[in-house]
Amino acid sequence: MKARIVYASMTGNNADIADILEEELQDYGFDVETSEAEFTDANDYLSSDLCIFVTYTYGEGTMTDEISDFYEQLKELNLTGKYFAVMGSGDMVYADHFCENVFDFEKMFKQVGAKEITKPVTIENAPDDEAISKIENAAKEMADQLND
Ligand SMILES: Cc1cc2nc3c(=O)[nH]c(=O)nc-3n(C[C@H](O)[C@H](O)[C@H](O)COP(=O)(O)O)c2cc1C
Repeated sequence: MKARIVYASMTGNNADIADILEEELQDYGFDVETSEAEFTDANDYLSSDLCIFVTYTYGEGTMTDEISDFYEQLKELNLTGKYFAVMGSGDMVYADHFCENVFDFEKMFKQVGAKEITKPVTIENAPDDEAISKIENAAKEMADQLND
């Protein structure tokens, strides 16, 4: 099974989450490719079975340019028949906007026809042990559904 992880990270938290998830999925036998949103074309999802987006949220309801460019590319795809998962780190200080971009991408993946394989994983700031468990559980759900 091929998994494609695309992530956006300014200060490293979401890069760490992407790394942890990549290792977990590799342990389950997935063929994983990981790259930063800024240097990735959303079309790359078309060659994967499982499309994953890991993102920060900066700016209470808005998207940074790197995220909105990727979001606009995603909007044009048809991911029918593929699975997706979203996760990310934010800060609860932003209350109603906590991890908002994670949920923006959840909606968009659904809109372009992909099927959600596990619930969004939201993490507060840098991933601690509890957050790592959440990532591990999500990876297990992905493996349970996609591996024979
Ligand atoms: C100016 C600024 C605005 C932010 N806005 C939000 C926000 O709206 N929602 C949220 O959940 N987190 C917000 N955050 C917190 C970041 O998303 C959080 O620190 C995240 O872990 C950063 O990820 P990164 O290390 O991958 O860049 C904001 C942080 C800063 C500095």
